[in-house]
Amino acid sequence: MNTGSQSGERILVAVAWPYANGSLHLGHIAGAYLPADIFARYHRMKGSAVLMVSGSDQHGTPITVRADHESRTPQEVVDEFHPEFLRYWRELGISFDLFTTTGTANHAAVTHDIFLRLQEHGHIYKDTSAQFYDPQAGRFLPDRYVEGTCPNCGYEKARGDQCDNCGRTLDPDQLLAPRSRITGATPEMRDTEHFFFRLSAFQQPLLDWLRSREGWRKHVQNFSIGFVEEGLHDRSITRDLEWGVSLPVEDLGPGKRIYVWFEAVIGYLSASKEWAQLRGDPEAWRPWWEDPSARSYYFIGKDNIPFHTIIWPAILMGYGGLNLPYDVPANQYVTFKGEKASKSEGVGASVLSYLERYQPDMLRYGLAANLPETSDTDLTEAELVRRNNDELVATWGNLVNRVLAMTHRTFGGEVPQPGAFDGRDERILARAGDVVGDVARHIEAVRLKAALGDAMALAQEANAYLNETEPWKTAKTDRERTATSLYTALCVINALKVALYPFLPFSSQKIHEYLGMSGAIEDAGWDARRPEPGAPLPPPEPLFRKIETGVEGEARLTA
Ligand code: MF3
Ligand code: ZN
Repeated sequence: MNTGSQSGERILVAVAWPYANGSLHLGHIAGAYLPADIFARYHRMKGSAVLMVSGSDQHGTPITVRADHESRTPQEVVDEFHPEFLRYWRELGISFDLFTTTGTANHAAVTHDIFLRLQEHGHIYKDTSAQFYDPQAGRFLPDRYVEGTCPNCGYEKARGDQCDNCGRTLDPDQLLAPRSRITGATPEMRDTEHFFFRLSAFQQPLLDWLRSREGWRKHVQNFSIGFVEEGLHDRSITRDLEWGVSLPVEDLGPGKRIYVWFEAVIGYLSASKEWAQLRGDPEAWRPWWEDPSARSYYFIGKDNIPFHTIIWPAILMGYGGLNLPYDVPANQYVTFKGEKASKSEGVGASVLSYLERYQPDMLRYGLAANLPETSDTDLTEAELVRRNNDELVATWGNLVNRVLAMTHRTFGGEVPQPGAFDGRDERILARAGDVVGDVARHIEAVRLKAALGDAMALAQEANAYLNETEPWKTAKTDRERTATSLYTALCVINALKVALYPFLPFSSQKIHEYLGMSGAIEDAGWDARRPEPGAPLPPPEPLFRKIETGVEGEARLTA
């Protein structure tokens, strides 16, 4: 972990906390975890001080509904999926500095601190409200225990607290035609006491702040501004539940917990503090949260937008002294045959089934090329296979393999000494320098698909350069020309290894070593130093393999 910063920049990479109630699918990876990792790896390589945190969201009705259904305890559900998430990150190379859970004592303490400070500032108050109650089950029905029709868009499977179709947060009394998910009964309304967060008080400050953001994705900014303009209501932040973070005050009596969405967003702060404690420097989280020049990027799916652009900023404003989100580059959905990939609807195969069949960089490439940055993006297995075989293997892998193998063969395992560069050499070398800069600019602006596209375009140009200079032919007649062409190609590969590292960390590290460089590629920095003539080139091996599939390739996606 790099806490000092050579670039002078300090970057918090905050990634959505997945509910620990089921396996993740590729839509989750493309929606949040992979883009966050690409961004973090770029910044680390550049020398920024990066802190990347998230964890399992283990509370609330998403967990208890599943536990009830399977006659297990909520903790047993969490204990099944949290380790599975850790395995995804390890095998896919998603490089968290800390991936914790909301079940820690630290998270409860940080949540309590925020609750109490907001209460002290007059932003939290107690009130009685009517909530859904299931008379047959004899209990209240918070959030996902009740389903009904969204008053905003008419979606019939909206939950008590949010509509997944239009992204609106809901209050239980807004839901039309509600039904209990425990008994199917029509719930009645019963009075119950809860704490409320005075969100309405932040209407104007939030609007001013949201309108002044520059460089945000249009869909994120417009949705957020529209949401606030419609008028913000105070929101209850406690629930009639036995599972969740306890309250720091006893006013409400037993059987109440803090609402999962109020505490989950606090996880970004509590995870930063836990990370600092774990490294033996408990104050080390502060610069990322208190230094106004530090930048925080929240990588989330679009269903999470209001919680990150409205509710979390309001909590931070009410608390005071902590940085608001710098950017919330929320993604749209990955769809599988037009259907939203949703864990709770059971569409899309688990990540584990892909890890069995794909090398991590192959999967990362196929997903990165299809990131749903500006619109919903349909993904099929055929598309993953095509991207792998036609681009990763045929363009990039082939470039690296043929240049390294030919150099090895012709120059006895050493980086050759080039002669004078001609116009063609100069042109591709200049392009390589430009592309490394273009890729950096795109990644900084979180245009990751564009960054990848620019890098791959250079790989194609490098293949065209080889086809023109034909070092395999000149090898028999002109050793110096051959050395110059191959050296030039090695320089371009070296630049591409840097530009592609955030996307393809495993293979870029290998190429780094094949080019005779030692140590971690990330430590070599974002600027590509040219390979040293005379440096030893270890014998290369093919980087990627083709995926063979039948015509039905894509049918396996939902299997
Ligand atoms: N658990 C939520 C979901 O899967 C995301 C929570 S993001 C957080 O939709 F920041 F609030 F934790
Ligand atoms: Zn809706």
